[in-house]
Amino acid sequence: MKIKERIEEILQQTQKLKADSITELEALKVKYLGKKGEVQELFQEFKNVAAEEKKELGQKLNELKSGIQDKLNMLKEDLERSIPQGDVSNDLSLPVSFYASGGRHPLAIVRRQICEIFGNIGYTVAEGPEIEDDWHIFTALNFAPDHPARDMQDTFFIEKDPDVALRTHTSSVQIRVMETTKPPIRSIFPGRVYRNEAISARAHCLFHQVEGLYIDKDVTFADLKQTLYYFAKEMFNKETQIRLRPSYFPFTEPSAEMDISCNICGGKGCNICKYSGWVEILGCGMVDPNVLEACGIDSTVYSGFAFGMGIERITMLKYQVNDLRLFFENDLRFLKQFESTF
Ligand code: PHE
Repeated sequence: MKIKERIEEILQQTQKLKADSITELEALKVKYLGKKGEVQELFQEFKNVAAEEKKELGQKLNELKSGIQDKLNMLKEDLERSIPQGDVSNDLSLPVSFYASGGRHPLAIVRRQICEIFGNIGYTVAEGPEIEDDWHIFTALNFAPDHPARDMQDTFFIEKDPDVALRTHTSSVQIRVMETTKPPIRSIFPGRVYRNEAISARAHCLFHQVEGLYIDKDVTFADLKQTLYYFAKEMFNKETQIRLRPSYFPFTEPSAEMDISCNICGGKGCNICKYSGWVEILGCGMVDPNVLEACGIDSTVYSGFAFGMGIERITMLKYQVNDLRLFFENDLRFLKQFESTF
């Protein structure tokens, strides 16, 4: 038989191989890959093959060899995975067989950490719907009727009904909680949000937020600042400093954006913080009295603060991920790096 056909034949044969024990498997290994095995024999014959055929046949032979190796490895893994039979089947002291259980997604890891950090100072977790009405996304949050965030450019509306949209922030859950809970309220709201933006390394049409809300009597801006300072130190490291810059949100007054000292260079300046030493991580402020009143909370008795952050942003800073799209592509080479993190 010609060497080419012989290769084909052995390939067919070996793909159907079975082994019920390690001994059987060893025997197969000797038969095919051993020093006097079938493959070695073909390599001997190969020496006499005409020069013009060498390239193609050599490649085929190598493929055969690695194909058999893969097959035998698979059989070995199957054997190791299978439960030992006979008198050892009830031996509870045997080590468990390897089980690939997968790992958490980096965004899930960070969401959990955020929930835990706030959980430790008494915050509960609440969730709400991703498909929302105008009242909970905008109106109750003090957005003027002509506010640009209501614009078709930013918001995904459902079936041409301007009253139904995908929520653009989890502030909608703040409203739902305030409408149904009597203060004091101390909650965080993790969830997925949607914005009609072009996808790039820094923006996506869907991302994740955690917002927080604290409503009680005599809550001040100092409470907000201390809470966020605690959060920043827990989330990044004990040396982390915070900086609040005045900002504007319709639902908070006064409002601020918070930067942390760059966790990569420690504030000295690097390309992550664009050599400023600071990176922005969240928006916050004192809940506007109009918002409290819209939810039936007496703003002459109660006050509170709110804050909101993007989970992607925190994760990118924490793990130095430089492209937002990596979180959504499910590339195992990326995800596997987080497998052992909880
Ligand atoms: N909802 C704001 C956003 O999506 C974040 C925020 C929440 C700001 C609470 C202030 C207070 O950008």
